[in-house]
Amino acid sequence: MPDHIIIKKKISNFKKKIFVSGDKSISIRWVLFASVASGVSKAKNLLISEDVLAAIKIIKKFGIKVVKKKNFFTIYGKGINGYRYKNNTVINAENSATLGRLILGLIINCNKTIKLIGDKSLSRRDFKRVASPLSKFGARFKLKKNFSLPLTIRGSKNLKPIRYFEAKGSAQCKSAVMLAAMKANGTSYIKAKKSRNHTEKMMRYLNLPIKVTEKKNHDLIQIKKVKKVKNFNYIVPSDISSSAFFLVLTALANNSELIIKNVNINPSRIGVITILKKMGIAILFQNKKNYKGEEIADIKIKSCNSIKPINCPPSLNASAIDEFLVIFLIAAKANGISHFKGLAELNKKESPRLKWGSKILNEIGIRNIITQDSIKIFGNPNLKVDKKIIIKNYLKDHRVFMTSVVAALSFGGIWKIHDCKAIRTSFPEFLKVINKLKN
Ligand code: S3P
Repeated sequence: MPDHIIIKKKISNFKKKIFVSGDKSISIRWVLFASVASGVSKAKNLLISEDVLAAIKIIKKFGIKVVKKKNFFTIYGKGINGYRYKNNTVINAENSATLGRLILGLIINCNKTIKLIGDKSLSRRDFKRVASPLSKFGARFKLKKNFSLPLTIRGSKNLKPIRYFEAKGSAQCKSAVMLAAMKANGTSYIKAKKSRNHTEKMMRYLNLPIKVTEKKNHDLIQIKKVKKVKNFNYIVPSDISSSAFFLVLTALANNSELIIKNVNINPSRIGVITILKKMGIAILFQNKKNYKGEEIADIKIKSCNSIKPINCPPSLNASAIDEFLVIFLIAAKANGISHFKGLAELNKKESPRLKWGSKILNEIGIRNIITQDSIKIFGNPNLKVDKKIIIKNYLKDHRVFMTSVVAALSFGGIWKIHDCKAIRTSFPEFLKVINKLKN
């Protein structure tokens, strides 16, 4: 099968209800918590993607049994200190920084040397951001000069609690420290710039000793040593980040309407909704409910004929961090200049996404100006593309691929988009769901 897709036709006139796959952040966290729970945990609608399967492979290496039967995953947790460590075990986080960073927190008490590797994209990402705080607990790291992978960690059985200030708005750094804090002798104090809070919510649901005080721009988190994690079943809601491609596609299509069922709408994740609404797009939450501390709803969206430009408040950055590439496509069709600032983190993702955003906009003929951490997009409400465009993203960034597909289906032109397989990391069903809109 070729690893590219050709798109020659825009999409319009659809009125559908769809499901997208399970939330990636929650799926990885469920796997990790279930692996240190005392007893058997089951999950339904767990995202079956390479990132989550990589998490399962890693816990299996530490002696945890995992069984998949029909649409259920069962994890046989062996307790908070139940991992069996062998010297020089190599664990592979593949493309997932979330997994690579969180697992280091969870194995902070390993008394053997463990080597962490990843794929080409993960191997260029910064691991000092987690190695630094985690060493304060008492773990020893060996990192390459540029702080990237591979690295080795050797933990300690005698971990000191720490005080840590997370200033980037990175849920991965915050969560890695939170997981490590569960094993330290005493109370750890974390001050964290706002970022997604699934780890906090899962810990609270599990009745673990965590206290969160919410301030305007940051949270104060206290975590005490955890004696036992209870086993727990979970039905994973759909992923807002995967939904975002369909929200943008619908907003940009003519005469269309979409309902995406059962999506996680945790307030720390819905920056994309706030931004799209500010740009004049009609979005509704229906059938809202609470599930184990997480908010869930069906999302209804309609095409929009008149998109307003936005001067995007940086306070929304963390809650929309994975969605900016596709949000830039909305700005491309806006009636004026949009400005997105404070986005240095975007170039530190699976690929340099701020640069990729600019590149895709250049391809479709939208003027834009980028700096290290910002982009100005000169929208054109009459945008029509009628040239040939080839997209090849050598770091195989899933979101570059999916954003390119949305651009092709929204603006026209003849597109050859390489690296289809990249969707396997986060949303293997992506093209199938796209096809559902066409029938
Ligand atoms: C994630 C946090 C974010 C996000 C990533 C998933 C998580 O990264 O980009 O896709 O599950 O904690 P940072 O926390 O590094 O911003």
